[in-house]
Amino acid sequence: ERLQEPSDASRKLFSEFAFAFDIDGVLYQGRNRVEGAEKVIKMIRNNGIRYVFLTNGGGVSEDKKADTLQDRLQLNKYDDVIRGRMILSHTPMSAWDDSLKNGGTVLITGSHPEQARQIALDYGFKRVVTPGDILAACRDVYPFELTKDGLHGNHVPLPEGKRIPHLKDPYSTEIPHDALKIDQIFIWNDPRDWSVDTQIIHDLLISHKGYFGTVSRKNGDKSLPNNGWQQDSQPGLWISNMDLLWKTNYPLNRFGTGAFMEALKGLWSTTTDGMKLQFDALGKPSNYTYKYAHDRLLQYYHDMACNRGQADKTHDVTKCQPLRRVYMIGDNPESDIRGANDFNAADGTEWIPILVRTGVWRQTATEREPRYKPAVIVDDVVDAVVWALNNEG
Ligand code: G3P
Ligand code: MG
Repeated sequence: ERLQEPSDASRKLFSEFAFAFDIDGVLYQGRNRVEGAEKVIKMIRNNGIRYVFLTNGGGVSEDKKADTLQDRLQLNKYDDVIRGRMILSHTPMSAWDDSLKNGGTVLITGSHPEQARQIALDYGFKRVVTPGDILAACRDVYPFELTKDGLHGNHVPLPEGKRIPHLKDPYSTEIPHDALKIDQIFIWNDPRDWSVDTQIIHDLLISHKGYFGTVSRKNGDKSLPNNGWQQDSQPGLWISNMDLLWKTNYPLNRFGTGAFMEALKGLWSTTTDGMKLQFDALGKPSNYTYKYAHDRLLQYYHDMACNRGQADKTHDVTKCQPLRRVYMIGDNPESDIRGANDFNAADGTEWIPILVRTGVWRQTATEREPRYKPAVIVDDVVDAVVWALNNEG
């Protein structure tokens, strides 16, 4: 009953605002749907209000994630309600320029490296390597037994006949012509085998120009900025999100991708005598991700027409319809609320963060207020939408 059918007068304003829904801790908690979440989505959709799902989850394709959400919300009859509206932590990479995608070899790690590889290929990356490929090419890289769940069981030969050399002098800058060179490292979601991934990523970060099995001579050179660490054209390091915690159906918050990154930062500081790990982060709260979501919302009506086969799929800025406000409904102050507060849309659209109590954030005796302030704190996603609709008058 909390969700009333909107009046005709308010319907006229529906094209002026939009919703960005966080998923974990807002629409579901692990396997459990948040009560009323499916009604909210149907109501918004039926009234032609624009929306996206903006999650820091990843490691699966957008369509697979959409199917999971659809199942958990039991929205089976409403196929296109969710498909096509899904923005995962790594989705903005699909819009990268082709020159960035073709510019070298990418190492991908994550929960399911084989799926991650396929997603990267679908995005247009040409040469993709997983930790499993490296271990299959040279088992000596990792001295311990592997987990028995087949995580690294699937592998393909290294691209273009490359190999992992056993160099007599790993400090030599004379590199065999067929040595594997990695140009970018993408951590796409919560790694399952931290030990393997940490070893391989670290090997690359200390390497000479990304050649696996080499060591940079610049490392530790005090005359260079950052003491020479990450100063020798090593691969760029990207993490798909920095969420330390996320909400599942277990009562206590669980560690997320950001926890792996904190561990890697700590290790890097130890091995480099206190240097700061350099990397780029996608996902909320990064501006990059909010800008991507904003553009998708501007194009919403055009995208919907494409889905119905009534418009040409090519991106056309003239098809963008302006917005006044976007309501970001999230449960994590560090990512959802902070990101919406920090984002300044070039067209002046206001992003308004709403914090719900069904997720990561809880009011405690020591933390009465969230660190990043939302416009309002409400019980759940239903109340969040009701608040937003009232705010629209
Ligand atoms: O792994 C997912 C988690 O880090 C957060 O997902 O939907 O709350 O942004 P979400
Ligand atoms: Mg969340």
